[in-house]
Amino acid sequence: MDPYACKATGVNLRRVSGGRWTRQPLCVVIPICLLALAGCGKQTSVTAEKPIGAAVKIDAPLGLPDVPVPAANPETAEAIALGRRLFYETKLSADSSLSCASCHNPRLGFTDGKQHSTGIGGKIGTRNAPTVVNAAYVPFQFWDGRAPSLEEQAGGPIANPIEMNQTHDLCASKLDADASYRADFEKTFGPGPVTIGKVKNAIASFERTLISGNSPFDAYMFGGDKKALSPAAIRGLEIFRDKNKGNCVTCHTISETYALFTDGKFHNIGAGVNGEGELTDLGRYDETKVEGDKGAFKTPTLRNVAKTGPYMHDGSLKTLKDVVDFYAGGGNSNPYLDKEIKEIKLSGREREDLVEFLESLTGDVPSNAGPPDSPGDLLP
Ligand code: HEC
Ligand code: HEC
Repeated sequence: MDPYACKATGVNLRRVSGGRWTRQPLCVVIPICLLALAGCGKQTSVTAEKPIGAAVKIDAPLGLPDVPVPAANPETAEAIALGRRLFYETKLSADSSLSCASCHNPRLGFTDGKQHSTGIGGKIGTRNAPTVVNAAYVPFQFWDGRAPSLEEQAGGPIANPIEMNQTHDLCASKLDADASYRADFEKTFGPGPVTIGKVKNAIASFERTLISGNSPFDAYMFGGDKKALSPAAIRGLEIFRDKNKGNCVTCHTISETYALFTDGKFHNIGAGVNGEGELTDLGRYDETKVEGDKGAFKTPTLRNVAKTGPYMHDGSLKTLKDVVDFYAGGGNSNPYLDKEIKEIKLSGREREDLVEFLESLTGDVPSNAGPPDSPGDLLP
C-alpha cells in the first residue's frame, strides 16, 4: 500500500511517543478507527444489530419528502412487522400493563388525548404525549430533543420509572423467552439472542412507516386542486403564511415541494409559564444548559393536529381555538420569549379561518399501522 495514500483523509494522525502527530498509512489508521468505534456502545449495538433482509422503500405521500433512513438500520419488511408487533406489546412494561400504543393510540392520532400521560401504576408525568406520526422526519425526539434518533428514543419510555419502568435487560430477556418472538427476531436480524438494540431498531423501523400526508391542504398546495380547501381555510393559510399576520410559517415551515410544518428547532413561545411568570419546565435548557434555551421546546408538526389535542408540551391548551387565542395574545411573557412571538391583531373571523386551515391538515394514515392482524378500520 502507498504509505501516503491517506494524506488527504484528515483522520490519519496518530500521536507517537514523543508527543508529535505523524502521518500513518491507512492500514494502520483504519484498524485504530474501528477499535475506537467498537469502544462506543452505540455504534457497536447498531452495526451488530442490523436487519438482514432486503431493504424496502417507504413511499412518501403527497406533500412529504422521502423518509430519511439511517444506513445502520435499513427498512426491511421483517423489521417493520416485528416493530409493529413490539409497538403494541405490553411485555415491554414491568407489569405488562402498557404498550407504546397505550400513550400513542392509533385511534387518537397516535397520542393519548390526555393533558399528561399516565404511566405504570397510574403515575402521571408532566408532559403531553406528542404524536409519533411523521416523527421520522425530525432530527430530534422528545419535546426537549434529548434523543437524537427514533432508535435512541425507543429505549427511553421502556426504562422510564413513570412510564414502562422496566430495565432494558429484563425487557430483552422476557422477549427472548418467548419462542414466537425469538423466531421473529431471528428472521429479522439473523441468529442470536434478543437484545435491546434489536428491539429499538425494529420499533424505529415501524415508526418510519407511520407517515401521513395527502391532506386537503396537500391537494390544494401540491396537487393543483384549488377546490380542495374551503375559502375560509384558504384565508387561514394566508394568515398562517403572512409574516405581518400569523407569522406561523416562520417556525411551522412550508417548503416549495413539501411541508413538514416544523423547522426541527426549539423555541420559547411562552407556554408553561405559571401565575408568577416563572417557567414550570426548562425544556431544551435541561439538555444544553444554554441560558437562551430556557423554556424552549421543539416545534411540533401540525399535520393531523385536529386529532392530537390537548396541545403544547404541558397539554395546557384544550382546543385549536385556544391555541389561536394564545398566539394572538403573544404568548405568556417571560424573559426567554422567542423574538418571533408577539401580539397579533386577529378578528374573530380571522381566528376561525386559522382554525379551519389547521383542520385541513388531517391526512391519510397507513392502513397497516394498527395492532398486527387487526383490520384497517381500527384506525381513525
Ligand atoms: C406512559 C405513556 C407513554 C408510553 C408508554 C410511551 N410514550 Fe412515547 N411519549 C410519551 C410522552 C409523554 C412523550 C413526550 C415526553 C418528553 O418529551 O419528554 C413521548 C414522546 C415520544 C416520542 C417523541 C416524539 C416527538 O415528536 O418528539 C416518540 C417517537 C415516542 N414517544 C415513541 C414511543 C415508543 C416507541 C414507545 C414504546 C417503546 C413509547 N413512546 C411509549 C408518552 C409515552
Ligand atoms: C417562534 C416559532 C413559532 C411560531 C412563530 C409559531 N409557533 Fe406554533 N409552536 C412552536 C413551538 C416551539 C411549539 C411547542 C411549544 C411548547 O409546547 O411549549 C408550538 C406549538 C404549536 C401548536 C400545538 C401543537 C401540538 O401538537 O401541541 C399549534 C397548534 C401551533 N403551534 C400553531 C401555530 C400557529 C397557528 C401559529 C401562528 C399563529 C404558530 N404556531 C406560530 C413554534 C412556533
